[in-house]
Formats: sequence, C-alpha cells, structure tokens
Amino acid sequence: MTNPTPAAQRAIALHRESWGEPAVVSRAPGRVNLIGEHTDYNDGYVLPMAIEFDTVVALSPARSGRRSTVISEIFGKATLDSKRESIDTTHWASYVFGVSHLLDGHGISTGSWNCSIATDVPIGASLSSSAALEIALARALLRLAGESWEPAETAQLCQRVENEVVGMPCGIMDPLISACAIADHASLIDCRLLDVRPRRLPDGTVMAILDTTTRRELVDSAYADRRSACARAANWLEVSALRDAQLDEIERLPEELATERRRARHVVAENERTLEAAQAMEENDAEVLGSLMNASHVSLRDDYEVSGPALDAIVEIAQASPGCIGARMTGGGFAGCAVALVTADAAGAFTNAVQESYRATSGLDASVWLSRPAAGASIIDRAEWHAG
Ligand code: GLA
Repeated sequence: MTNPTPAAQRAIALHRESWGEPAVVSRAPGRVNLIGEHTDYNDGYVLPMAIEFDTVVALSPARSGRRSTVISEIFGKATLDSKRESIDTTHWASYVFGVSHLLDGHGISTGSWNCSIATDVPIGASLSSSAALEIALARALLRLAGESWEPAETAQLCQRVENEVVGMPCGIMDPLISACAIADHASLIDCRLLDVRPRRLPDGTVMAILDTTTRRELVDSAYADRRSACARAANWLEVSALRDAQLDEIERLPEELATERRRARHVVAENERTLEAAQAMEENDAEVLGSLMNASHVSLRDDYEVSGPALDAIVEIAQASPGCIGARMTGGGFAGCAVALVTADAAGAFTNAVQESYRATSGLDASVWLSRPAAGASIIDRAEWHAG
C-alpha cells in the first residue's frame, strides 16, 4: 500500500470538512511531452509521459435532487444543475460541467453528487492541468455510476469537453496520456489509431521540467490559427491529415501558402523526429534522443512559431548547463514549461545552474522538477485514504 499523495490527502480532507466521508476517490496525472508537439491534431505521433503531480477528486452521492456541488481548493465553490444545457465557458467549473454533461449524453447517469478537488499540477503551465481534472473526474463519476473504465474512450470524451464545451480546439494527447500512462514509461502514441506503446527513458537519465513561471495569456486563438493552417495545407495536398504528407510534397505548397508551408514542415518533420526518438529510446541512445529534442525546439520556434522569449531563454540556458543532453519547450507553447533530458548524476548541478542563469537573465525564479514517469488515472483504495 502506498501513502496517498499530498493532493489526495487535501481532497479527502476537503470532502470530510464539507460533507463527510467520500464514496470514491480518484486521481489523474499531469503530463510532460518529450517530443511530438502540435502533431496530435494532425493524426500524428506524440511521446509524452505522465508526471508525479496529480489532480484528485473525492466524490459522494448527494441527496439533494438535481443539484451537484463542487469545491476546488483553488477556485472555490460552484453549484451545477443537472438540467442545465450549457455553462459560461470562462467559468472554471465548465470542465466539471462538461464531463458530467457528456457522460449524461452517453446515457451514463451520475445523479447529483458532492465533489472536492485538489491538485498539485501547476495551472496554465503546459503540464495539462485541465486534462488531469477531466480524467480524474470522469474516472470517479464512472465508478460512482457503476460503469466500466475505458481509458481511450474516456480520453475522447474529455477531448470533446475541451472542443465542444470549453471551446479549446485541442487534440487527444493530454487526456489520453493522463488516462493511459504506464508507470516508469513514457508513451509513443499514434494519435490516429490511439495506439499507446510504452518506452523507457535511457539508462542513467532523468527528465527535468523547467517552469519559466510565465503563463499563457490570450493565446487560445494562436492555437486555433495553427490548427487551421495545418488543415489548409492538408487540404491543398489532398491528404486527410498532415500525418499523410511527405517533406518534399510540402515544399511544393505555393507562395500564397508560405506560412502554411512552414507550419506543415514542422508537423511532418516533427512526426519523423518523434518516431526516431521512440527508436532511440528503444536502443537506449540518450544522445540521439537529446539531439532530436533540440531540433524539435528549433522547429517549434522558427517554423511553427509557438515558442516565446522566456521559453527560448530557459531552453538555451538548459542546453548549456551541466549534464544536459537535450532540451525543448513542451506543450502548447508561448509560456509555461520546457523539458530537458539530463544525466541523473548531474541533476543537482543542472538544477542549480538553470535556476541561477535564468534568474540572472530574466529576474524570475524558475522551478525545476525531476519527475519519474507516473501511472495513468486510478481509483485510490479506501484502505489507502487512511494510510496517510
Ligand atoms: C496542447 C493541446 C494538445 C497538443 C499540445 C501541442 O497541450 O492540449 O492537444 O496539441 O498543445 O502538442
């Protein structure tokens, strides 16, 4: 038996304070993507791993007809009416509403419930805090309703929550890795087939997550712009998705589609890099994996244009720090986190060097976390609640 994580202890305590003992407690992790960025919505390949920070949901049935109540330790309290058809998409509880609303739409009636939420996944840092919340909640609601847990289907439902309820046109990567991750492994995911293959980190290496502490603002439209540029390129090339395009075909895109050409070049090359990275992991080749991560950053910065000054600065600093084998921005981009592959023996020196140089360059205090690849979503056994 393992002790509940700090987030689990807090979610359970919050539930007890508000309503007494929970009936179900579930957790789902955030993620860091090692390589394969902005490829998921092009039916391509990604290589993320779940991280040790998770979001925990403690749930119990409510007696009060159609009203469910949710308390987040960060955002406060919200009441949801099961007859409600829509929600203000800027409200934090839109993720909670979306999951229960779409489950209802699948004929999975969850009744009314009380729900407490705690998280250690930094919010808005490109570590997939929203997918962790959606997956943890879906896992708990399915258990409460006595339904089976189908990770890939649930991930698709949570992607629909983002696309249809919250209005964020994101891909499948974040909910899928949060639902399906295998402990101690990253996963090569084929986003067309939803095929998930575990890959170990090279021996003697760790993944360091580098938080610039900058956060995204008003960039959801930039994400949608990138997505539609990819769709236009695929359309011109007469392929159903850029996954099916080759680099030499991309170069034939006409001058009026010059921006689309650069975006597509990133996607097609990034897919190749991701497959090569998975192969390098299989061959235990840290150097090749690291150089592919460096190349990915250049492509995201120059062709896809989703990096930013803080991300570029921390990646450059990381690459010059002791023990670094490769580094790049991770997730949607513009702000948030970078990821670095580091020799385990040098992890302490690496962390100090990055923090010191980043402070000197930007005046900001970066957080650096070393995370083992964590397991995907799970129900926390009742016996474990009491172990903490
Ligand atoms: C965000 C989205 C993902 C993916 C990444 C970029 O995290 O939620 O679906 O597109 O950006 O790789």
